[in-house]
Amino acid sequence: MIYAPAGRDAAVAAALLREAGIASSVCADFSALERSLGDDAGFVVATEEALRDEDLRGVAARLRAQSAWSDLPFVVLTRRGEGTARAPDGTRLESVLGNVTFLERPFHPQTFISVARVAAKARERQFEARARIEELREGEERLRTALLAGRLGPWELNLATGSLRASPTFEAIMGLGGGDGLTRGDLLRAVHRDDRERVVGALDGAAASGAEYAIEHRVVWPDGSLHWADFRARVVRKSAHDARLVGVASEITDRKDAEHALRAVNETLEERVAARTRELRDAHAAVLAEIEQRKRAEDDLRQVQKLETLGQLTGGVAHDFNNLLMAVIGNLDLLRKRFADHAEAMRLVDGALRGAQRGAALTQRLLMFARRQELATEPGSLVELVRGMADLIERSVGAQIDVRLELPATVPLVMLDTNQIELAILNLAINARDAMPDGGVLTIGVDTVEAAADIELAAGAYVRVRVSDTGHGMDEQTLRKAVEPFFSTKELGKGTGLGLSMIHGLAAQLHGALRLSSEVGSGTRAEIWLPVTAEPAAEPAKAPQAASGAPSRTLSILVVDDDELVAFSTANMLEDLGHAVVAVASARQALDILAGRDPVDFVVTDYAMPGMNGVEFAERARQLRPGLPMLLVSGYADLPQRSPVDLPRLGKPYHQQQLAAEIERQLSACELRTPRAQAFADEAAPGNRGVDHEVECNGRHRRPL
Ligand SMILES: Nc1ncnc2c1ncn2[C@@H]1O[C@H](COP(=O)(O)OP(=O)(O)OP(=O)(O)O)[C@@H](O)[C@H]1O
Ligand SMILES: [Mg+2]
Repeated sequence: MIYAPAGRDAAVAAALLREAGIASSVCADFSALERSLGDDAGFVVATEEALRDEDLRGVAARLRAQSAWSDLPFVVLTRRGEGTARAPDGTRLESVLGNVTFLERPFHPQTFISVARVAAKARERQFEARARIEELREGEERLRTALLAGRLGPWELNLATGSLRASPTFEAIMGLGGGDGLTRGDLLRAVHRDDRERVVGALDGAAASGAEYAIEHRVVWPDGSLHWADFRARVVRKSAHDARLVGVASEITDRKDAEHALRAVNETLEERVAARTRELRDAHAAVLAEIEQRKRAEDDLRQVQKLETLGQLTGGVAHDFNNLLMAVIGNLDLLRKRFADHAEAMRLVDGALRGAQRGAALTQRLLMFARRQELATEPGSLVELVRGMADLIERSVGAQIDVRLELPATVPLVMLDTNQIELAILNLAINARDAMPDGGVLTIGVDTVEAAADIELAAGAYVRVRVSDTGHGMDEQTLRKAVEPFFSTKELGKGTGLGLSMIHGLAAQLHGALRLSSEVGSGTRAEIWLPVTAEPAAEPAKAPQAASGAPSRTLSILVVDDDELVAFSTANMLEDLGHAVVAVASARQALDILAGRDPVDFVVTDYAMPGMNGVEFAERARQLRPGLPMLLVSGYADLPQRSPVDLPRLGKPYHQQQLAAEIERQLSACELRTPRAQAFADEAAPGNRGVDHEVECNGRHRRPL
């Protein structure tokens, strides 16, 4: 700016400046000068006389309002010789204009140019400072924006004085109010009590070592609410006595909550995964166990069915075979009697009888396996039974084997056939002996057990006889087959393979079971389970009256058997005993006879007959002739457990003597019952009185002996 209104001064100055490469503009009047005094002005060249009389207050005000970086240079041209007057004016101008250089006219053009250049340079430096300041301000602005965007609160702690400079964001994070005058104490008070020690440690550590301050801790706001914050700062040392911790803080409550929730989820997730895994494992094990159990049940069922089929087959064959033996034995018995004095014939007959009896014993075992053996069941104690057999067992197994009994004082009663069960236990003991050729221990125990229902047993209480040995045991294959008839590992002629089959059938027929377990090298355990019965103990049987062999009287006997061979053989035996016999092949024929008037003292009837079985026949016969003594002969155990008529039974095959004894026993019993039975007979069948034979014993015709 050039302000030199008089003469050619302005033009000369402009020309000189142009020569120096400095652009200029001339102010036409003082107010134009005043207006041009802004931040963008380079410097001002003015003549002293032009300023002298002007009111400089407006200029002064503008110059005072300059930015901090700005100090506008003035070059004031004075006149030579006016030095005396210059002093007060110069002082006034200096105080108003500030940065002023006086140049006396006339001046050498070069002098003017160098002064102008110095002023321009000074102004340029001021412009550079302005640019720097502006950059700095922009930087600060950007930082502030970034801090706001990151929700970071800058803070500064003077480590020497403890004074705290906090940004509003920092105060908000800490829940501090009050702005100025905050201290380290205020900071620590806002920290959660449990975290305070850690914070003090970190502050002191950073102050002492200059290490970075980085900590997360809880903050309690004045309203009592709890927040998490993250603090990061560095030590800035200006001097030995001026160290500050400068940094930022940010609230991390949400992050902490999320972390906490995640941790909780993770913890429970692990638990849930573990629980689920456990559940799956258990379910898997249960399924496997179920499959295994089903497989075992199927195997057991197959085994039971197999034995059942075998039993039916065996039973049918044995039954027929038994009838044949009946005929053979019966006739051999008679031959024996007839040729008693013929030694050669007797030898042959005895041989044949022994063979037939061996056959009969075998048949009995087969019938037992087939559950068709005629059993004489009565309530009995297995403890007493085993105790009674102790000697027999010891003798049978030999001295090499240590026999131990484990018997409770008493056990509940079970329905049993004493002879057959004894035979079964003896069979088990002998099996055990055979499994211990070098000796060992044979333990026979009895106890009471509760059974759950399975394919063999109904649920309920059982008494169990355990026969355990320490012998060579059985492998799985042998164990599975052991019960099958004719299965034997013993050398030919040593075992029939019917021992366990028989016990199995016997136990099943008594509504119990035979159970075997074994381990090769350790031994075998066989158990007979029999259901506990509520029936009271049977009275000791009266000693049977000895059959004399010779019949005490001669009777009219009706023999009913569909098997001709058997009927024939029985009739022969009876006739040989001196009785009169009528043999018929069916129940119907027999009923016809009984409906007639022929005398009949005794009836021997078979059980299994086509059309009408022995029991049904007996019922009808009793209606026709009440009290008529009858004997049911059978090789079959299919008799109903309880029949309406009380029939004595005799198992096939039987000898003549057994038949005679049984008839004798029935007649004696009949005589004992006579008075009551007679009354009953009279009452029940008054029509019978018309029968022409003398009724003395239940309608039995008695002839004089
Ligand atoms: N206590 C046992 N220890 C080892 N194996 C046994 C035992 N009991 C039975 N066995 C096996 O079971 C098979 C069948 O036994 P089972 O009693 O039915 O017939 P057996 O003893 O061979 O002949 P039998 O009894 O007719 O004389 C035996 O041959 C044997 O292999
Ligand atoms: Mg055996």
